[in-house]
Amino acid sequence: MTAEAPTSGGAAARRAILALIIFAGLTALLFLAAPDWLYLWIKAFHVVAVISWMAGMLYLPRLFVYHSEAESGSVQSETFKVMEARLLRLIINPAMMATWVLGLWLAWKGFAFAGGWLHAKIALVILLSALHGYLSGAQRLFASDRNTKPARHWRIVNEVPTLLMIIIVILVVVKPF
Ligand code: HEM
Repeated sequence: MTAEAPTSGGAAARRAILALIIFAGLTALLFLAAPDWLYLWIKAFHVVAVISWMAGMLYLPRLFVYHSEAESGSVQSETFKVMEARLLRLIINPAMMATWVLGLWLAWKGFAFAGGWLHAKIALVILLSALHGYLSGAQRLFASDRNTKPARHWRIVNEVPTLLMIIIVILVVVKPF
């Protein structure tokens, strides 16, 4: 039994291409037309995107903790599959893309990509994005009942985004170097 209703590959590919075109169009628009008044608005939406991304990045490994303790094929296990797939597709993935696009725009417009704090921040966000990739892979494993990691592993993984988030926020607000 799969977590999601089956969709045809063609429809999924068309949706993905449309999303990519809209994403590329909005990105191009942001970088070509850049009036000064836009900065604070983009920063506000960057913070909204960051909050949504982080909410998902903290919740998904927490779901994995409970899922890894549920028996394969049980009602709980199948419910977790649906929750995990929707959380990733509807919240975490779009929020990560928005965080990156708006963050890069702010870095370009406000700081011309200069500053030690900014370079350190981008390096840590790359790590956070790698963790995102790892969690996406784990979601696919859970969806096909192939997770082999114990709950303790997911409890530890759950702490990583918290730690990264604390350092990233200190870097961008305090700008210590
Ligand atoms: C994807 C790469 C990212 C880049 C290039 C980036 C870059 C930036 C830049 C240049 C600013 C404006 C700073 C200012 O005006 O003083 C900003 C604001 C902010 N960013 Fe990011 N950011 C990224 C991701 C993140 C992430 C992942 C978080 C949190 C986990 C985050 C949290 C914040 C916060 C809280 C602010 C508001 C800071 C303030 O107004 O003092 N950013 N970001």
